[in-house]
Amino acid sequence: MASGEPSPGGGAARRPLHSAQAVDVASASNFRAFELLHLHLDLRAEFGPPGPGVGSRGLSGTAVLDLRCLEPEGAVELRLDSHPCLEVTAAALRRERPGSEEPPAEPVSFYTQPFSHYGQALCVSFPQPCSAAERLQVLLTYRVGEGPGVCWLAPEQTAGKKKPFVYTQGQAVLNRAFFPCFDTPAVKYKYSALIEVPDGFTAVMSASTWEKRGPNKFFFQMCQPIPSYLIALAIGDLVSAEVGPRYDLLFMPPSFPFGGMENPCLTFVTPCLLAGDRSLADVIIHEISHSWFGNLVTNANWGEFWLNEGFTMYAQRRISTILFGLFFPGAYVCCSRLTHSRQHMDITGEENPLNKLRVKSEPGVDPDDTYNETPYEKGFCFVSYLAHLVGDQDQFDNFLKAYVHEFKFQSILADDFLDFYLEYFPELKKKRVDIIPGFEFDRWLNTPGWPPYLPDLSPGDSLMKPAEELAQLWAAEELDVKAIEAVAISPWKTYQLVYFLDKILQKSPLPPGNVKTLGETYPSISNARNAELRLRWGQIVLKNDHQEDFWKVKEFLHNQGKQKYTLPLYHAMMGGSEVAQTLAKETFASTASQLHSNVVNYVQQIVAPKGS
Ligand code: BES
Ligand code: ZN
Repeated sequence: MASGEPSPGGGAARRPLHSAQAVDVASASNFRAFELLHLHLDLRAEFGPPGPGVGSRGLSGTAVLDLRCLEPEGAVELRLDSHPCLEVTAAALRRERPGSEEPPAEPVSFYTQPFSHYGQALCVSFPQPCSAAERLQVLLTYRVGEGPGVCWLAPEQTAGKKKPFVYTQGQAVLNRAFFPCFDTPAVKYKYSALIEVPDGFTAVMSASTWEKRGPNKFFFQMCQPIPSYLIALAIGDLVSAEVGPRYDLLFMPPSFPFGGMENPCLTFVTPCLLAGDRSLADVIIHEISHSWFGNLVTNANWGEFWLNEGFTMYAQRRISTILFGLFFPGAYVCCSRLTHSRQHMDITGEENPLNKLRVKSEPGVDPDDTYNETPYEKGFCFVSYLAHLVGDQDQFDNFLKAYVHEFKFQSILADDFLDFYLEYFPELKKKRVDIIPGFEFDRWLNTPGWPPYLPDLSPGDSLMKPAEELAQLWAAEELDVKAIEAVAISPWKTYQLVYFLDKILQKSPLPPGNVKTLGETYPSISNARNAELRLRWGQIVLKNDHQEDFWKVKEFLHNQGKQKYTLPLYHAMMGGSEVAQTLAKETFASTASQLHSNVVNYVQQIVAPKGS
């Protein structure tokens, strides 16, 4: 069993947290009844055909949880998050016995209980109740093949096309389909793992150290406590390249559903970022920023997701400004993302509860289904507003450092953060900045709709103007060819082109024929390899029913499976002509097998909504 170590806070008493009482309706577990001291995974990976059946692909082995009972009255069972795709075949219990160094593990009974469509409870019954403060170890033997937590790819779905690949994506609630656990961001613990792979494969994990144990085994240790969703594994025919010290990136296969995922010590990124321009930098800065906001200080439940993403957007843009100056690409991206948020709010209705910073998590609703821009951009605006109240960038930067120091290795609610903010700035507290009419902290958190404060983005205006004016020219019934030709777009950076295309899309459908001419005039746009440009060109093509270029949409959707690219294009196809709708159905039929299971479900909803 893991030995009792002082808490990472250095053993000093830490402030009582609002989050200590918070519920997580997305977890089926009794995580408040135990302290999870350590998790060890001992898994063997086998690549075979998709299951079920003998020899099919899967991970099998054991999960070992070191626990301490926290119930003053004792506990009669351990309830963990699990998923129907985990086949648990045995459970054993090792209990501390006075005088016995390594007491034997005894088989115990277990059963599952339905919870929601995204998980179930795995209950391990104790023959005798464990008492308060008692240490115990629970050993679970299990196997996982197909399922939403472990993503298996055939060789042809990888870059090398020779060997299969497997990866896990835990956020938000998918790791319960990888190993049985307390699948809540409220709980943090250290883990280790021993992973056995077939000949010629390499395993990597989100861990602080790793070593090879024999030709086919990899041993990992994460020596800082992290939440379940940050445990990640990938196995494949991996090659490595030295690009810089101390920070590992894993370029994922094209079907990886996100731009980036902040798995500690090993950020996962989409290969779409290898565009040859600077588009990689922002995402990497974003994921590195999560090291502090999200990974050290974590939202205690998914309703407070903005604490992860809003702070990270703020840190990302602070860093970009320092690195690239005030006219940094992020300023454009920020404008265009705010435009998107605006559109999102217009489409979903400002009053939509998802347009609140703090989302009320409903039992039975998968937190991933509520994913949208609000926690990112409204979160960014709120943090910017709090910086604006302070009025001095250095002071606010120092506050952010103090905030991370105060809450590192813990999971918090917005109230914990806001209490700390007001304590740190007593003069603001005295001024009651929390209840300034129209800008009440409570309003920021709990009222849906457009943020009451936006940071000043005017420095970027002058550079964005030309893109806006050019878009205006292309929206005319009679094209002013002279004026159009006078604007040279070849020196424009990708983000300026992106902004231009966003404006074109806003004005679409354009008068007949204009999009065809636009595509011919700017082959660098209509034949772009950059994914952000391909997405937007696809959206424009569909909005204008420019069928000549439909094949580009299809090709793009075959080439990658990022959720943020895939869903808007299917929305556009299904909102388009008969031909566009047919394209959607055909494309989905032939790509579904390579997409992440969440993305498959979302596309399904768009292409053939349930109940239609
Ligand atoms: N943690 C998120 C990705 C995520 C969110 C996965 C929710 C699962 C559930 C990651 O840090 C992220 O925000 N990625 C962005 C990058 C962008 C904002 C620079 C992405 O993938 O687009
Ligand atoms: Zn993020």
